[in-house]
Amino acid sequence: MQLQEEILILDFGGRYSQELARAIREMQVFSRILPYNADLAEIKKLNPAGIILAYRPEKGPAGENTAVTRRPDSGIFQLGIPVLEFQPEEAEGGQGEDLIRDFLFNVCQVKGSWNMEDFIKWQIEAIREEAGSARVISGLSGGVDSAVASALVHKAIGDQLTCIFVDHGLHRKGEVEEVRRTFGQDFKIPLIYVDARKRFLDKLAGVQDPEQKRKIIGEEFIRVFEEEAGKIGDASFLVQGTLYSDVIESVGEGKGVKVKSHHNVGGLPEDMDLELIEPLRDLFKDEVRKLGELLGLPEDIVWRQPFPGPGLAVRIIGSIDEEKLAILREADAIFREEIRKAGLNREIWQYFAVLPDIKSVGVRDEQRTYAYPIILRAVTSTDAMTADWARIPHELLERISSRIISEVESVNRVVYDITSKPPGTIEWE
Ligand code: XMP
Repeated sequence: MQLQEEILILDFGGRYSQELARAIREMQVFSRILPYNADLAEIKKLNPAGIILAYRPEKGPAGENTAVTRRPDSGIFQLGIPVLEFQPEEAEGGQGEDLIRDFLFNVCQVKGSWNMEDFIKWQIEAIREEAGSARVISGLSGGVDSAVASALVHKAIGDQLTCIFVDHGLHRKGEVEEVRRTFGQDFKIPLIYVDARKRFLDKLAGVQDPEQKRKIIGEEFIRVFEEEAGKIGDASFLVQGTLYSDVIESVGEGKGVKVKSHHNVGGLPEDMDLELIEPLRDLFKDEVRKLGELLGLPEDIVWRQPFPGPGLAVRIIGSIDEEKLAILREADAIFREEIRKAGLNREIWQYFAVLPDIKSVGVRDEQRTYAYPIILRAVTSTDAMTADWARIPHELLERISSRIISEVESVNRVVYDITSKPPGTIEWE
């Protein structure tokens, strides 16, 4: 299906194409990125209102002169579509924006009427067309993407959709209830809740190695999901919350984007023989959040911070058991509550508690204690590739620490991680 008007960005390398695409969408013009060597026939088929050739900078970050090595296929200039050759240096000092605006609205004469409401309508039609009368299943992870994708598909095809939510027992406090309440009760989406907590804990018992833990969780997840999906019977489609950033993969300076082939996000089974429905394929993360808000999903889901698939398992150092999970869940909930109360929840990229595999000496009620410390980790970031430790005010840290120590039994010390990435990763395992 054709969106009303779009601008095509041909990526000649560098990291600017995505920024450019987002800037254009903010001007309410839909934009799409293809690699520099995209097929002319494909470009013709898209019938864009204009094409921008986004080059990598003439001068690399280190100041060396790296000349633009690729020139566009001259056929592009003969398509009869306006073409702008864009150099990132031009973006400096706001001139870039003027240049783009002029190209879009004066040269290409686009209207600038792209908006999320229309996108929803358009997607709903596309999903209906794709799914027909077939049964569709969707795996909810508790995260933003699967929640928004599922809610959108349900709006399109109603109860042809069944959601499966596997509770592996490694979610944070309140998350399982929130997903069940939102989907099962508020949205009335057919939801299969699978209580697999014991299964996962049994498999994880005594396992210390982080990669081993991840592997066990990934494999068990697929097994449980397959079992449940099998019970639904004749499903032909699987919903996936694939985002635009998953679809276009930057393959490094000078090489341009590569469009990934179909892939399975989040380790869902490859051999299930289901066709994928990926309604978020064209959207950036912030657009997905906006879409979630428009669909009426609660703020806690729409603005949820990134959370690893293996959940709390990688935030308990070493082996996992129910007692440690309970300690971590409580401490983490206090941390999150205080950050939210202080209004810092959208500013800080990720903030969470970690439970290490050590105990230390303390005093409580004039008695010597020997208990766990809790590590607080909070970082600012834009893409999780690099991150800086968040400068949380000392008074707030003090409040969080006192609350954790007084409210969570078995914790007698709270420490704050002041390592940036690199060299420290965001997660501890
Ligand atoms: P690190 O710890 O490598 O994390 O700095 C970067 C980002 O990835 C998330 N993360 C994971 N996400 N499965 C996931 O789905 C994982 O095993 C995993 N490990 C790390 C992390 O929370 C951060 O946002």
